[in-house]
Amino acid sequence: MTILFEPLRRDTRPLLPLLGDGATAVSTPDELAEHLTRNPGELLVVCGPGTNLTESCDLAANLRLTNPATGTILLRHKVDAETLTTAMRAGIREVVLAEDPGAVQDAAARSLALSAQLAGTSVALAAAASAAEEAEGAQVITVFAAKGGTGKTMVSTNLAVALAAGGTRRVCLIDLDLAFGDVAITLQQVPEKSMADAVVMAERLDVTGMRALLTPYAPGIETLLAPPGPTDGEHVSRALVAHVIKVARTMFDYVVIDTPPYVNDQVLAALDASHRYVLVATPDIPALKNLRVTLDMFDLLSYPKDRRFVVLNRADAKVGLTPADIEASLRVPISAHIPSSRDIPVSVNQGVPILAANPGHPASRAIRELALNHLGGVPEPVAEVRSRFRIARRPQAVVS
Ligand SMILES: Nc1ncnc2c1ncn2[C@@H]1O[C@H](COP(=O)(O)OP(=O)(O)OP(=O)(O)O)[C@@H](O)[C@H]1O
Ligand SMILES: [Mg+2]
Repeated sequence: MTILFEPLRRDTRPLLPLLGDGATAVSTPDELAEHLTRNPGELLVVCGPGTNLTESCDLAANLRLTNPATGTILLRHKVDAETLTTAMRAGIREVVLAEDPGAVQDAAARSLALSAQLAGTSVALAAAASAAEEAEGAQVITVFAAKGGTGKTMVSTNLAVALAAGGTRRVCLIDLDLAFGDVAITLQQVPEKSMADAVVMAERLDVTGMRALLTPYAPGIETLLAPPGPTDGEHVSRALVAHVIKVARTMFDYVVIDTPPYVNDQVLAALDASHRYVLVATPDIPALKNLRVTLDMFDLLSYPKDRRFVVLNRADAKVGLTPADIEASLRVPISAHIPSSRDIPVSVNQGVPILAANPGHPASRAIRELALNHLGGVPEPVAEVRSRFRIARRPQAVVS
């Protein structure tokens, strides 16, 4: 059920009884790894106050991919903003004061309840994926990478432009990186309304409520932004994300979802509702390792192989790995090669996706072809794109 990972015996003694009768204590990473191998059904790892923060974060990040149902909770003698942010980014579910037995027990109970739900998802997800494909409504495309900074937001914002085809199709771009989402800043939008505002409406959210949450960007494109504060989105549940996507599907032709660089409850809801998965990697070993682990996780969750599209971003980087090497080692084809170009950060700084700012750019062409060949996009005369975005561009957001 629960494993307490704590190197110091004096901390193990008071903590273990709080975690219930079945809890086991381990004191080294090797013991933990061995225990997890022998007991793959364990649903909670509590990292005690004596564990190293980096080690706990690495553990959580690995578990999230190898066993998404298993939660990690971190106990500290002192909880500060930096620890919270680092832990949250790694996918640790909660950080709790070790000296507060009630809080430790509550956090453990919450995590176990969530894990019990998640453990039952793999079968449901496979069924949901094919049911979603059959049902009427928007195609849902989730852009994901288990490593930060690979280019998810760049790809998702540009895909939204490609799929909108100059306003002939309706696209909803959802920023599901609720803690550190960059869609608003990338498109220079002011997040006056966000996913966090859906919480009060919950299951009552309908088309009218959804309209109130959307921010128009360009012809055919509306965004559902991430909240401005890193903790504002913490009450957005998996069920709410599923509901928001369901409503959006009745209003748009495409729902494109940008994600954080880890799997959490909200991301699982998006993956669950997706018809296509765009998996972004860069040609470096950590990104490719994380992509391999993601593909394995997708296998585990029975997401169809033919709906996964691997995008190699900065594909031309001279780092000793060729696209052919990468395809061979990953055993999956690469569906799009996006070159590295300083024009991309420049376009981000200007708040206009490269595909709109420079439709003939090699990066724009790669993303447009991905949309056309794999995601059901329609072609649009390149010359018309830029002028529409000039007209539609919003005033620059003030970033404080
Ligand atoms: N092909 C490219 N060439 C040059 N710069 C790029 C390219 N792709 C992305 N970038 C830049 O790399 C940075 C990271 O890109 P982006 O924000 O899209 O990554 P991300 O995966 O969304 O990151 P995070 O995990 O933090 O959300 C940005 O500054 C972006 O402008
Ligand atoms: Mg991003």
